[in-house]
Amino acid sequence: MALEGLRQKASGGRYEDIVQSIGNTPLVQLKRLSPKPGVKIWAKLESRNPTGSVKDRVARALIEDAEEKGAIEPGQSILEPTSGNTGISLAMICSRKGYPLKVVMPENVTPERTQLLQMYGAQIVYSEGSKGSNGAVEKALQMAQDGRYYMPYQYGNMANPNAHYNGTALEIIEELDEVSAFVAGLGTGGTLMGNGRRLKETFGDAVKIVAAEPMQGEPVQGLRSLDDGFIPPIIDISILDRKIFVTNSDAILWTRKLLDEEGIFAGVSSGAIARVAVRIAGELDEGNVVFVVADDGWKYLSSGIYTRPLDEIENLDSTVWW
Ligand SMILES: Cc1ncc(COP(=O)(O)O)c(C=O)c1O
Repeated sequence: MALEGLRQKASGGRYEDIVQSIGNTPLVQLKRLSPKPGVKIWAKLESRNPTGSVKDRVARALIEDAEEKGAIEPGQSILEPTSGNTGISLAMICSRKGYPLKVVMPENVTPERTQLLQMYGAQIVYSEGSKGSNGAVEKALQMAQDGRYYMPYQYGNMANPNAHYNGTALEIIEELDEVSAFVAGLGTGGTLMGNGRRLKETFGDAVKIVAAEPMQGEPVQGLRSLDDGFIPPIIDISILDRKIFVTNSDAILWTRKLLDEEGIFAGVSSGAIARVAVRIAGELDEGNVVFVVADDGWKYLSSGIYTRPLDEIENLDSTVWW
């Protein structure tokens, strides 16, 4: 029968607090979007983390790594450049653990992000919108020079990929005996590096690690193009087998397909990633293709993309949204 081999866990587990409950996210098959019966496409729903994104894993790893190294003590101010999700996750975790947090992010992110950060008690410093996440990194590095802050710096901290190497990837391996391709967006590169390294150690070169990248000059929130000039230090290009570009309007269209065809309410980067996963699936005859749903759609509701008629979405000028 169709559901054969799918495991349904009786409960989501029992945890001491919300921070402990991060991870153990479901892997959900996309039956309608798979182009071939022999190829299974699986969405790893990182949107099911406590603040709604994959960055809960990373923020927890960054803070716990600093604690273990003795780099921070309660009361220490933390500073981080982030286009949103890492800031929101850090804000939740820092508020639980007693670290005041300042985040630097581009001024043109959606208002939901600002409210979420404020809700968890973070202080926000805005950087120039046109400079994107690179502008936020630049500004935070300047601010960190006075030595008052501890900056986890997810772009250069191995705790970021290690959160995936020791978490996300192990969960995927626990569920699937074979993975032909792993597809994720490239922001800091942590998701692709950590999962890529572990999956290649487990399945060898049979697994292809594929990055979904935005077209240059067409930003998709959360993602970056390596051609923009900044290659995060945690990135080891040799782990990537392919990178595939996605336009902003395709990202939006596929975000809607995830919702309308599969009932998955995801952020826009996940649309871009799903589009690449379906393309890779079309090139295979059989096997499992896993892709990461990096966040849920709540933060993007004000853009209107979930409710507009599809023909308006297909023709929209993508630059108006971001
Ligand atoms: C929405 C979204 N998608 C994808 C990514 C990419 O993840 P990574 O930083 O692990 O490359 C991010 C990272 O911030 C993100 O916020």
